[in-house]
Amino acid sequence: MKVLVIGSGGREHALTWRIKQSPLVSEVFCASGNAGISQDVTNVPLATYADMVAFCKKETIDLVVIGPDAPVVDGLADILNSNNISVFGPSAKAAQLEGSKGFTKDICRKYGIPTADYERFTALEPALAYIKQKGAPIVIKADGLAAGKGVVVAMTEKEACDAVKDIMGGKFGVAGASVVIEEFLEGEEVSFFALCDGQDAIEFGSAQDHKRAYDGDKGPNTGGMGTYSPAPIMTDAMRKRVMKEIIYPTVRAMAAEKMPYKGVLFAGLMMTASGPKLIEYNARFGDPETQSMMMRLDSDLVPALLACIKGGLEKVTIRFKPQAALCVVMAAKGYPGEYKKGSLIQGLEKISTMQDVKVFHAGTVSKDGNIIATGGRVLGVTALAATIEAAQKLAYAAVDQIDWPEGFCRRDIGAKVITSYVGNACSNA
Ligand code: AMP
Ligand code: GLY
Repeated sequence: MKVLVIGSGGREHALTWRIKQSPLVSEVFCASGNAGISQDVTNVPLATYADMVAFCKKETIDLVVIGPDAPVVDGLADILNSNNISVFGPSAKAAQLEGSKGFTKDICRKYGIPTADYERFTALEPALAYIKQKGAPIVIKADGLAAGKGVVVAMTEKEACDAVKDIMGGKFGVAGASVVIEEFLEGEEVSFFALCDGQDAIEFGSAQDHKRAYDGDKGPNTGGMGTYSPAPIMTDAMRKRVMKEIIYPTVRAMAAEKMPYKGVLFAGLMMTASGPKLIEYNARFGDPETQSMMMRLDSDLVPALLACIKGGLEKVTIRFKPQAALCVVMAAKGYPGEYKKGSLIQGLEKISTMQDVKVFHAGTVSKDGNIIATGGRVLGVTALAATIEAAQKLAYAAVDQIDWPEGFCRRDIGAKVITSYVGNACSNA
């Protein structure tokens, strides 16, 4: 089989790396990839969806795997399907679960899926009145995709009102024309994944992300500064509960709404005192959750991806190694704000000989044999070990080999879980 992966981040590096290990696969391409991906598979510069279709036809690609949210929500899967190209990723209609927070909230309400209480608004005055009525803390969300910046967890009414004015005032363009205002949930956050074939779903692991830029969960929100997998809070019983109360009802709801969900469903959950509640859905793999999860995956990824397209998920077994994985993201200084591009990263060759460590690249290019940083999030240094604590030690030992003065990372990835869970933190999730 020939496979094309769409995207150029750490998630796509982890996916291409895993897919290439499948005995079913003869060749892997990535559009457009990065310097790390080009060490493992073949990068192809495909700028438009039309270019991708043409490439798939020319190369007789057997499977396309879409990484990032934008092409998923844009309907790249529909374009490829209409050209008879087999694709892993939901239709644009089904991807509304990620593309419109209001759509997802309405599905949850209609089908009794546990989530924060909410209302939707398209006009400012009723939104402000609702905030006054409910009080703070309260959460304000732009309806559409806003590069992870369209959510404000407001601790005061003023902050909430300012956020609504900002969002409705055009800060996020059409994504902010409609706003969801929801109840503030307290608890531990978990990223939970399921593979879906339109009718059925199977578990596909868990992880926990670190969204804030700096140690101690301080600083601005980012795309994710580090993960570990599995999430110890996801015991066997809790995983079953999430499948029963959240994932299966969603898959059945989407089928009933005539927009069957095929692909990976990424549930952002809050584990509250009254049980797991959905914060949001993403219609794709997580970044940097995928880096940790691919490190642990022990079974062949490709048959699982194919079963989402063709059906037969019930026959697929997903097996993870019993160890834990932990990924430390290295980012350019200034990220998620402004940062410089073009700095030199050295020392990566010292890590290539380390056992159970893999550096997944994100914003890198290769120039005259050197690795140059070109993005905000640049590297995901990922380690596998018996416990989260041991994986943390190994990952930071690798980070310390990297000579990149213009980069930074959090030094506390996994720290909270290491102090709060004693004993074996691993389950097969
Ligand atoms: P989202 O883009 O919906 O995942 O929101 C971004 C972040 O905001 C989440 O990862 C949570 O940390 C936080 N958040 C979102 N919704 C809520 C909520 N209802 N209660 C508390 N925190 C929330
Ligand atoms: N790490 C969070 C995300 O992929 O959205």
